[in-house]
Amino acid sequence: MAYFYFALTNVEAESLLKEEVSLRYPELRPSYSRPGFLTFKGDKLISFKPLFARVAGFSIGKFRESELLYSKAWVWKRNDQLEIPAHLKTISDRSIFKVGEKVTLIMMVGNDEFWVGTYDLLSTQFQTPGEVSSILQKEVPSRAYYKIAEAFEAFDLPFDHQERVLELGSAPGGASCFLLEQDMKVIGVDPAEMDKSVLKNINFKHLRKPFETLSENDFKEDIDWIISDINLPPTVVLKEVYRLLTFLEPRGLVLTLKMNELKHLDVVATVREKMRSNGFSKVELKFLPSHKKEIALIALRS
Ligand SMILES: C[S@@+](CC[C@H](N)C(=O)[O-])C[C@H]1O[C@@H](n2cnc3c(N)ncnc32)[C@H](O)[C@@H]1O
Repeated sequence: MAYFYFALTNVEAESLLKEEVSLRYPELRPSYSRPGFLTFKGDKLISFKPLFARVAGFSIGKFRESELLYSKAWVWKRNDQLEIPAHLKTISDRSIFKVGEKVTLIMMVGNDEFWVGTYDLLSTQFQTPGEVSSILQKEVPSRAYYKIAEAFEAFDLPFDHQERVLELGSAPGGASCFLLEQDMKVIGVDPAEMDKSVLKNINFKHLRKPFETLSENDFKEDIDWIISDINLPPTVVLKEVYRLLTFLEPRGLVLTLKMNELKHLDVVATVREKMRSNGFSKVELKFLPSHKKEIALIALRS
């Protein structure tokens, strides 16, 4: 008997997802796909939870609009050129799924081309059809604003007023902007220029130098969080973060690991264990809605 699985991802991350599936689920073979929507076929029933997908699960199959007889389902569309039929939109808007519940997801992949899948809703998933971001778009210095805002929302990160954040690779300042909005104090490390709106905030301090040159002397006070969005290979970023952890003791880390090359997938396989051995008991990896070829590592001490 054949079983089918679906995954929704961002177009930029498709190659990563395919490579991850071939490594972690060798029993699956690629089947039908369109940009952002992929299916796989296998001979066994498995738990399909690839990292480089926003949502993934069991695929029931392809339907025409007239064949869809669901009264509770979320409906997602693959791109803005498609328009979800009004009655399906109403069903989607009315459907509430709780964490742990099996979601029925109708995926509008083309004109009168609908695929139906199911998946178990996790607390760290956005409670939206297709796990699109629920963060409102506004004018911000960079996309990094959304990455940290989404990580904050998905993991309910315990950021507190006036906590000190060391932000590695802070320019131009999207993430700093979000952290300052949370009333945190930010030390931004980046040789590049910061946005003026960030620089003028009294809770922001710019260390205009490479993060490899940071030493104990740069810190007069404790650091509560280390955040990184440095555009260097994850091996380089992690090596420096482990070095910083020899003299800083943050309660949590939020690191965006850039996965520009498939070989970086190796890091993902070992990073959880390494973080645990550095004292972080809760370690999660999550592909966020605004991610391209990257993934968020969230590590908390307790
Ligand atoms: C994706 S951008 C960061 C976006 C930023 N977090 C924001 O919120 O706007 C990557 C940044 O990493 C910085 N970077 C690259 N190598 C670095 C290094 N060795 N030390 C510090 N920053 C570095 C770059 O200058 C660049 O500004």
